[in-house]
Amino acid sequence: MPYHELLNLPRMGMSVNQLQIIRSRHTHPFSALTEFVDNSYDAKAKKVDVSVTKYKTGKSRLEILDDGNGMDLDEARHLTQFGGCRKPAYQIGCYGIGVKAGGLFLGMETLVLTKKNQTQTAVLFSATNFHLDTILVPYYCTELDGVTPVGIIDEDLDHFEEKRKLIDDWSPLGNEETIQDLFAKIKGANGTLVIVGPLRESKPGHPTLMTPRGIADLVRPRRDVFEDPIHQRSFRDHLQRLFLTSRPQMSILGKRIVKVRVGEKWAEKKIERISYHSFRDQSLESVRKWEADRIQTQMSIRNVFVRLLDATNEEKRQLLREKESLGQKLSNINGILKGWKQRFKKDGVNVTVGLEVDNPMDDGVHIYGNGRLIQWGYKELPFYRKEHTTRA
Ligand SMILES: Nc1ncnc2c1ncn2[C@@H]1O[C@H](COP(=O)(O)OP(=O)(O)O)[C@@H](O)[C@H]1O
Ligand SMILES: [Mg+2]
Repeated sequence: MPYHELLNLPRMGMSVNQLQIIRSRHTHPFSALTEFVDNSYDAKAKKVDVSVTKYKTGKSRLEILDDGNGMDLDEARHLTQFGGCRKPAYQIGCYGIGVKAGGLFLGMETLVLTKKNQTQTAVLFSATNFHLDTILVPYYCTELDGVTPVGIIDEDLDHFEEKRKLIDDWSPLGNEETIQDLFAKIKGANGTLVIVGPLRESKPGHPTLMTPRGIADLVRPRRDVFEDPIHQRSFRDHLQRLFLTSRPQMSILGKRIVKVRVGEKWAEKKIERISYHSFRDQSLESVRKWEADRIQTQMSIRNVFVRLLDATNEEKRQLLREKESLGQKLSNINGILKGWKQRFKKDGVNVTVGLEVDNPMDDGVHIYGNGRLIQWGYKELPFYRKEHTTRA
């Protein structure tokens, strides 16, 4: 696509440099990859499958497929923005940066395909090849036929064809797949497929994550795994201990994860509820914006009624069409507002702390936030170490 056309497409209000800084909050590929699993968990997925696919060029990509709630256009558009998470506090995500930070850590491009309410939406986060200082975030939404455009606000349909072309020509699409083929991997009416690729390489031919030969797992290459704490030796080990609940059923390369019953051997356990408010305040800001939009739309509708009073027949037809589209917009805004209000009923994080003392190698303090592993502390490993000491 010519450079000048790219300039018109939506981009993230953040420079690549700034995003690189945020990306650096991940220092481990497992924590970056877990961002996507967390999102599937938050979307109430029953099944999450993580896999690696090789494509034509010999490079590979990661895929995270879930059967969770998926996203409608409004939610997917929100994903293109930075920060401002709409999740209630009892979920895992809370900053609205996971997809961007995790995706950028693992690869240069992240494609999110998602289905909900009989629509499918594709969002691309692209930091490659465009020589732009900000990340491109084209997205488009269609009905399930993949053809009929869907839009709520003007921005959704602006440059629709260009955005669609850019996404449909997405570089890691190898193996003659089309976007529609990829959407078909989401079998049910709801779900999300995230593809990150090409995987970053520390030097050519050395990806930061790889699948050991013949084993359905993901590891960091060229490492003596026993240097790592048990939950970081492989991604399978990581997922086995990630959640306290049995949901979701996870698999790597099609092979089921058998969960470790983490709390079973705890000598002591404590559950605390910590309440917080900051994100609720942020959401109020958005609610106010949508409310202003609603009032504006209501005023426009009233204005149409006034103009109808002394309009010619031709003008009337035009005004009625206008009224209908404003009515549709109003009902969309009402829907969004309702969603916002439902989202913030609870605020508080459940912290579970357990202490395991049987095994001197791997035991220690385990901290889970909302049922998800946050910290696994060992005597021998960095959790207990002073900050200035480094491991040999
Ligand atoms: N797999 C998924 N299923 C449904 N919604 C998702 C999924 N991944 C991301 N999202 C949506 O995108 C938003 C942004 O995700 P993310 O950047 O990880 O931030 P956070 O999880 O902190 O909100 C989420 O709040 C959620 O609404
Ligand atoms: Mg998240």
